[in-house]
Amino acid sequence: ASNRTFTMIKPDAVEKGHIGGILNMITEGGFRIVAMKLTQLTVADAQKFYAVHAERPFFGELVEFMTRGPIVAAILEKDNAVEDFRALIGATNPAEAAEGTIRKKYATSIGENAVHGSDSDENAAIEGAFHFAGREMF
Ligand code: CMP
Repeated sequence: ASNRTFTMIKPDAVEKGHIGGILNMITEGGFRIVAMKLTQLTVADAQKFYAVHAERPFFGELVEFMTRGPIVAAILEKDNAVEDFRALIGATNPAEAAEGTIRKKYATSIGENAVHGSDSDENAAIEGAFHFAGREMF
């Protein structure tokens, strides 16, 4: 397995002032920040990023949500990064997220769930390269 994953702190969490709290949980969880920026997805970016969900009934809502304000995009490094980060963020639905997870603490709903974590090594590489040039990775 690759040792990198990609994350976004989503607009809901940025709006509520949770960037610092979430970054603290990420670094306390043993992840090293390789790349990071405050940015905003365009509608085209979000449609491309979530293309796998294009046929889902919530797709329009998802694109609108993810483009409504700035996000923090970051590449993270740790052994077993993809799997360990998904454990740290918790279930998609915060009502099902385990105690001690980022979504348990900061997510409000299944849609506005505070953070993204890549679901595979392949997608982590694609998603990271979408946001960062090689010279922005440390
Ligand atoms: P994530 O798993 O990061 O990527 C897909 C996103 O789709 C997911 O987070 C949620 O934000 C969103 N999503 C999944 N299921 C639903 C749903 N039933 N209603 C609204 N949004 C959803």
